[in-house]
Parts: sequence; structure tokens; C-alpha cells
Amino acid sequence: MELNPVQLFFEEYGEGIPVIFIHGFPFDHTIWNPMVPILKDKVRMILPDMRGFGGSPVPDGVYPMRLMAEDVVFLLNQLKIDRAVLVGHSMGGYVSLAFTHAYPNRVAGLALCSSQAAADSPEKRQGRYQTAEEITRRGTRVVAEKMVTKLTNDPELVSQLEQSILKTQAKGLIGALKGMAERQDALNWLSDISVPTVVIAGEADALISMERSQTMVQLLGKGWLVKLPEVGHMPMLEAPQQCADAILQVIDLVETA
Ligand code: MLT
Repeated sequence: MELNPVQLFFEEYGEGIPVIFIHGFPFDHTIWNPMVPILKDKVRMILPDMRGFGGSPVPDGVYPMRLMAEDVVFLLNQLKIDRAVLVGHSMGGYVSLAFTHAYPNRVAGLALCSSQAAADSPEKRQGRYQTAEEITRRGTRVVAEKMVTKLTNDPELVSQLEQSILKTQAKGLIGALKGMAERQDALNWLSDISVPTVVIAGEADALISMERSQTMVQLLGKGWLVKLPEVGHMPMLEAPQQCADAILQVIDLVETA
């Protein structure tokens, strides 16, 4: 695979330990906005848009998780950051795991939020290719229609999330869908991760089951689970303070290591 990184758009707040917040599919860095007032006086927050989303370039082709990880390392190099804590939401968790596998020495700690280490089942993979094909025909609203009711239990957030999905570009959605479909299983090397890792899981997540989060925690050497009752797939929006507290547990351990 050719790993030609792109320059990501990002926002930055605060000082201290660098923490990179990697958003999930099909969003951009603004999903982390409720985290900013809580965390900006405690850490250096770096909020990129992944390729294909928000203000970042939207290249042609497939976006493998390993390539998205390369975009993140390119950003770290540019900012002269040697090691950082990675916070990855869902697809951002897949990117964080791909990053950790490729660059273990550059990761100080991890927060995997509403994410998983398993690869797609053949059915799930097939579904993603079908969705990609449908987007080509009918546009981005296909993703809004399929996902929006599964994202959260909070009716007030549904319309905000829908608007955000409708702003994305079809090419970016297709690149990321195919990239997720191709991703490798990380379960077989998860026990190699030696940095503090919190797994944050909403008990009402309709997209990623609690069992997947529990499996990750069992395999992680220094992993623990933070379960959020009545929270769906978007903990940073549905329970920002609890989500931030879980991230701060990682920061505390990194600071005292
Ligand atoms: C996400 O929120 O990033 C996606 O739902 C992840 C996925 O489709 O596997």
C-alpha cells in the first residue's frame, strides 16, 4: 500500500500533554466540541478532520485505516509532537489502533470510544460496499437515512447529527466505507499494547455491542472499561463530562508514569 499522507485540517486548544481526538464516521472534529471547555485547561487538544471529512482534503480512492493513521503521524511530525494520547471514536478507534500498531512508541495512552478491535464480518463488509454503491446513485442522504436513528438515544441530537452527515461529500464517505471494510482484525495483537487504555462504551450503543468492548478490555494489558448507562454511540455528545473524566483517567496515568 502506498502511504501518501495528506495535510489534515485541525483545531488546537490548550497546553500540556498532547491529546489527538480522532472522530468517527461520518463526522468531523466538531463532534468533540463539548469536550473542549472541559479539557482545554488540562491538556493540549488537537482535533483533526480525517481525510474525506470536514475541512480536510477529499482524495479519490479508498481510505485504509493505516493510511488515515499515516495522515495523523504526518500531522504529529509537523507539530513536532513525539508522543501523544490518542482518543478515537468508532472509526477513529480503528485509526488509533492502526496508528498504535505502526508507531507503538509514539502512543502514550489510548481512549477507545464506542469502537472495536474486530474486523468486519463478510456480511458487514458486503453491506458497506452496497452502501457505497447506493451513495454513488443517491448521494450522502443514504448514510443519513441508514445511520441517524442508530447513533443516539437523545432525540435532540438526531437532527444535529443528520445535518452534519448531509454536509459530507459522497467521495469521502465512499473512501472511508471501503477503508473500514478492508481493515485488519486487531484482536490478535491487542495484548501487545502496553500503554494505559480506557474503553468507553455506551450501554445503549446500537452500532457496537458491549461484548465487543469487553473483549477488548480482556485482551488489553492495561485496559479498563467505562460503561455509560443510557448512552448510545456518541458519548462525547450524550455524556460529555463522563467521557472527559474517562479520558482524564488515562492522562493521570500517563502523567504519573
Ligand atoms: C463510526 O461511528 O465511526 C462507524 O459507525 C463505525 C463503523 O461503521 O464501523
